[in-house]
Amino acid sequence: MTTSPLLFSEERSAEVVAQAFAATPDPRLRELLTALVRHLHAFAKEVDLVQPELDAAIDFLTRTGQTCSAVRQEFVLLSDVLGMSMLVDALTHRADEGTESTVLGPFHMVDSPPRALGDDISGASEGEPTLVTGRVLTTDGRPVPGAVVDIWQADATGYYDVQVSESLDQGTLRGLFTCDDEGHFEFRTILPAAYPIPTDGPVGRLLTATGRHPYRPAHIHVIAEAAGCAPLTTHLFVAGSPYLDSDAVFGVKDSLVLDFPTVTDPGLAERHGLPVPFRHADVQIRLHAC
Ligand code: BEZ
Ligand code: FE
Repeated sequence: MTTSPLLFSEERSAEVVAQAFAATPDPRLRELLTALVRHLHAFAKEVDLVQPELDAAIDFLTRTGQTCSAVRQEFVLLSDVLGMSMLVDALTHRADEGTESTVLGPFHMVDSPPRALGDDISGASEGEPTLVTGRVLTTDGRPVPGAVVDIWQADATGYYDVQVSESLDQGTLRGLFTCDDEGHFEFRTILPAAYPIPTDGPVGRLLTATGRHPYRPAHIHVIAEAAGCAPLTTHLFVAGSPYLDSDAVFGVKDSLVLDFPTVTDPGLAERHGLPVPFRHADVQIRLHAC
């Protein structure tokens, strides 16, 4: 007696489709696709999905893809506002010690220009003069000489260079710094502002349709890398910024919120080539040795 093939039905839909993927040679790909199908089918059944809603979802994803360009990543934005980026971050760094990680975001799209320690990354953008000093250490407190610290941030009106390409040189408010023998780094900049994530695309329309605001609290992005250490993608959030308790992409962690006190000491200002007053943040970045 021949066994009949598994035929598609409402009851057995996930099982039938999973069976079609059963011969996937890569076991991880097979696991991912089988679980994806199981959850997608369970979702459609739970909400009793109808054809116009599936059409709308396909249209939404199509427009999301069409919005992507060399300087715009709408799918990253979608992952961010759905909390997927932060969930994968949490799953990836469950047992990590050291400085906490957070979202990469969609604006790390151009290479940061290499800079000397102490350089001013603000270019032509105006704002509150700010000094960031820091040190890269391992989780057990050893300095990491030569660690590379990649910095990028929005300006005082909340825009990245790639969003205002006509008026700002690309590379403005970005810098790639190599730490000294003691793991120290330092740069001058302007205080970034809180800003809305891009709202002129499908993700923005999703936020509007659901009554969600698009704002992120003020922050400076950091990727720290060194031989023998796990790379770290994180932010320095500015204490006191609006939206620290309602980041549109769920990226805030208490340990990443830093004070940027106002400094009025003219000697310090002169030593760092800054006017008085200026804001100063000092940060320790602790990398996991591996
Ligand atoms: C950012 O901080 O650059 C960012 C992160 C997630 C979504 C949009 C922007
Ligand atoms: Fe940002």
